[in-house]
Amino acid sequence: MIKGTVMINGGRDLIVSLPGTEELGSRISNLLRCEHVIPYTKVFPDGESYLRLEGDFEGEEVTLLSTMYPEQNRRLVELVFASKTLVERGASKVRGVVTYLAYARQDKEFLPGEVVSARIVIDMLKYAGIGELYVVDVHKPEILNGFGGPSRNILMVETFASFLRSRGVDNPLIVAPDLGASHRAEALAKEIGGECVIIRKFRDRVTGEIRHELPEGFHIDGRTAVVIDDIISTGGTMASIVSFLKRSGARRVYALASHGVFVGNAVERLISGGADEVAVLDTLSRRVEGVTYLDISNELSKHLSNC
Ligand code: R5P
Repeated sequence: MIKGTVMINGGRDLIVSLPGTEELGSRISNLLRCEHVIPYTKVFPDGESYLRLEGDFEGEEVTLLSTMYPEQNRRLVELVFASKTLVERGASKVRGVVTYLAYARQDKEFLPGEVVSARIVIDMLKYAGIGELYVVDVHKPEILNGFGGPSRNILMVETFASFLRSRGVDNPLIVAPDLGASHRAEALAKEIGGECVIIRKFRDRVTGEIRHELPEGFHIDGRTAVVIDDIISTGGTMASIVSFLKRSGARRVYALASHGVFVGNAVERLISGGADEVAVLDTLSRRVEGVTYLDISNELSKHLSNC
């Protein structure tokens, strides 16, 4: 579909793609056989965002697709603007589908006075009139409780499992980098039929050095390990776990994450740490060399058609 063109024919099931989700929106609308709308957007010379949503949305249920990296602030504003406008234009429901929710990692006040951005972003989405919220692998699923309405945290375990099968991985050890990441690793282990282990992390209070530990008596001995996290940003967390697993005897280590931000030399850090392959979901519009991107359109479509 051409940017700025809409083909609203009064049918139900519309997908509106905000910037960065155009390709994904097109794949999903083909799978779900629904109409795909790409609003016209631009940036004014002073940096402000402009959006135009042409067509008639009266009485329509609209799925509004958004990703919030890169340009987190602009993407968030566009989502709020678009949802609010759809509601004002009579949409019967706006279902927000956010493939990457920015600001989610600051989910509590770690130091006194810190802004809890995750909570505020959820409030903004509520204010914007989003009636149902679907987020792909939010950092802490509990943050969605603050939304108030129906919400779902989607872990793309089928997508990850089929990638691992395509690599011939058999009976892998699925590794959670810490306790907070265990729900994701457990879900993948269940899907692929592997064993799950949670790594414990210790920081030396004197040197600041980080040390990892496997549960007592647990041995890796030549197994294939799959580390799965929500996000790879600088790559520091993942690289340190990967090299720990290699030192502990893993034969191959796959570094998987839902969202690949890859700041600076993150990919190089992972490879030099010993990762045999780095794979992330295509939840962001940015692509980085040396990384395998996994298409989420099939699994996401299933979630959207079952709601
Ligand atoms: C932390 O709680 C997250 O789940 C990720 O492990 C972390 O944000 C990754 O960041 P980085 O790649 O910069 O270590």
